[in-house]
Amino acid sequence: MEQQTEKKKVVFSAIQPSGTITLGNYLGAIRNWTAMQNEFNCIYALADLHTITVRQETAQFRKNILEAYASILACGIDPEKSLFFIQSHVTTHAQLAWILNCYTQFGELSRMTQFKDKSARHADNVNAGLFTYPSLMAADILLYQADMVPVGADQKQHLELSRNISERFNGIYGNVFKVPEPYIPQNGARVMSLQDPTKKMSKSDTNVNACVSLMDAPDTIMKKFKRAVTDSEAVVRFGEGKDGINNLMGIYSAVTGKSLEQIENEFEGKGYGDFKTAVGEAVVEELRPVKERYDKYISDKSYMEECWKKSAEIAQKFSQRTLDKAMKKIGFVLK
Ligand code: TYM
Repeated sequence: MEQQTEKKKVVFSAIQPSGTITLGNYLGAIRNWTAMQNEFNCIYALADLHTITVRQETAQFRKNILEAYASILACGIDPEKSLFFIQSHVTTHAQLAWILNCYTQFGELSRMTQFKDKSARHADNVNAGLFTYPSLMAADILLYQADMVPVGADQKQHLELSRNISERFNGIYGNVFKVPEPYIPQNGARVMSLQDPTKKMSKSDTNVNACVSLMDAPDTIMKKFKRAVTDSEAVVRFGEGKDGINNLMGIYSAVTGKSLEQIENEFEGKGYGDFKTAVGEAVVEELRPVKERYDKYISDKSYMEECWKKSAEIAQKFSQRTLDKAMKKIGFVLK
């Protein structure tokens, strides 16, 4: 690991254990995480500190963390190749986040669309953590001198802010942090709700038919796709005013690797019923091995524990170097 760090580019990304992991998370991010493991030095985390910016019920939160860890392993993250730890186990994240808060402007944070959305949705709990959430994200990334950050399109604005914070800090103190690049897939970067295709598919959606979970049974997945909102044109083509079909075509394309044109040809003269069935079946086949592996991991907590401990230990050492460097530059007296 140490030696590889010298040569290979560093990839960092994280996901919140805030509930079931969705097809959106999978196509927008996790699939790339697994694909990047062979070529890069990959570091992944469960962002549990981010999750408490929205109030969590204690037992459910603990359960979500275990299930999310098992799900990500099931998606193919291999702890022999990559680090995969729980953010709160590595103390440097909260420490650097505090420091970066002091190099992040109120105005910048106020412009974050996720903050605006979430504070509207949780109007009774617009806490300071929700507001400074992006500085913790910046800390996650900058601690590991990450070159690339594989995420879905909804995280682009946060990554731009991470870049700005990094450049600002480097501008004052010299080269302390690598300025990270977002890595957003061409296909699947923005999977939309199956019930309202103008909104992104989200694990917090209250309509169960809006969102496909990685753990949904095959017949549930098929039902959700059959009920997906489309339009009245009944022609499978990508275009304006066809958000529902555009979304299904995007999903089908991301899963099968077929281009939009190939998909239009495949379903020429066929109705939406056939198309929805094909999309559902492709997704079921993609997720089948994930679900099988999940059942194995979730029933083996000691294996998961071994993985997250080992990863956190390495992450702590690596990230401590960056934290120390930043603190020294600022003028802190290190112990
Ligand atoms: P989170 O947990 O909301 O989502 C995890 C990843 O899934 C992507 N994603 C989607 N992609 C396509 N379509 C969708 N409908 C969809 N929904 C979610 C997200 O873009 C993300 O890549 N703040 C982050 C977690 C985080 C992080 C980080 C990410 C914490 N620290 C540092 C990168 C680097 C979040 O809440 O993601």
